[in-house]
Amino acid sequence: MIAIDGTHSTRRSLHVGTIPPPWPYDAAAVATVEQTVVHTQVSDCQDKSFLRSCVIRFLKADDIDALEELNELVLNHLPHPHILRRASRAELEIHINRRGRCIGAFVDKLMVGFSVLTCPRDDPDNLGHDLGFDHARRLRSCHFELSGVHPSFRGSNLHRIMNAMRANFAGASGYHYLFGTVSPLNPYSLGNHLAQGMTIRKLVTKYEGMDRYIIHRHYHERLLPPSTMTSATYRSCQDIAGQKHLLDKGYWGIGLRRTESRDWEVAYVPSSSIIFETASIPA
Ligand SMILES: CC(C)(COP(=O)(O)OP(=O)(O)OC[C@H]1O[C@@H](n2cnc3c(N)ncnc32)[C@H](O)[C@@H]1OP(=O)(O)O)[C@@H](O)C(=O)NCCC(=O)NCCS
Repeated sequence: MIAIDGTHSTRRSLHVGTIPPPWPYDAAAVATVEQTVVHTQVSDCQDKSFLRSCVIRFLKADDIDALEELNELVLNHLPHPHILRRASRAELEIHINRRGRCIGAFVDKLMVGFSVLTCPRDDPDNLGHDLGFDHARRLRSCHFELSGVHPSFRGSNLHRIMNAMRANFAGASGYHYLFGTVSPLNPYSLGNHLAQGMTIRKLVTKYEGMDRYIIHRHYHERLLPPSTMTSATYRSCQDIAGQKHLLDKGYWGIGLRRTESRDWEVAYVPSSSIIFETASIPA
């Protein structure tokens, strides 16, 4: 275990070397996922009609300088410092290939997007604790951790593409319980995660005073289009107490909408009304 200088002078201790997993898994299938290269096109925010080729792939150890640079750039452009917690270079290095995996998007040689998947195993930061998961399920939990897109290249779905790639890696490796934390101040990230099947399960304070939704889904479960959306209860993302009240009553957040007054509201429904479809689990 090593100590990492974390957010706002906290010291976080993280296990390293937790991949590969300790259970039997298909190493060839994982290797295939890791070699995935996605080719897409991104538009530059300055000129939406000008499309540029973008390559998305899993990062290697020598991508650390580019990753640190993009992370700093994203942090320096946040409208509010609580939207993304600050990660040190040492923590980013660990995420690239020891505690997890990291995905990067490149336009020519410039990194324009990154996304971290991390497998906390027995570490105290395992989000399974927040949902009362037992040890066996916590071991198989993983986090969609940090991510960011270069401000000039937003709006081309890079976040969703990288989310799909990190979910594929987690699923192939047997880390089936997908978690993440998102700030209520961050509707763009939240909307992407909810659209990809995550649900809001809790609203807590993390990282020394930052409000965070705990979002979760099981890799093999798909949320069916809810017939209950019209009867959903909507709460403003800024209404922390109101949302906590609903979550405590057993509601889950499943959608996001923007009101005419440009507020962002989460759609909450009773968890008992949510229907999941279970995809077949490979032997
Ligand atoms: C969240 C984030 C990664 C999404 O980036 P992305 O994949 O490029 O975003 P999308 O393609 O989903 O964008 C969809 C729309 O939202 C807009 N948008 C995305 N992020 C935005 C932001 N931070 N501020 C304002 N508008 C934003 C896009 O311009 C696009 O608008 P359009 O449809 O009119 O073109 C990016 O906003 C970001 O890096 N934010 C700062 C760091 C962060 O929040 N990380 C996630 C922590 S959980």
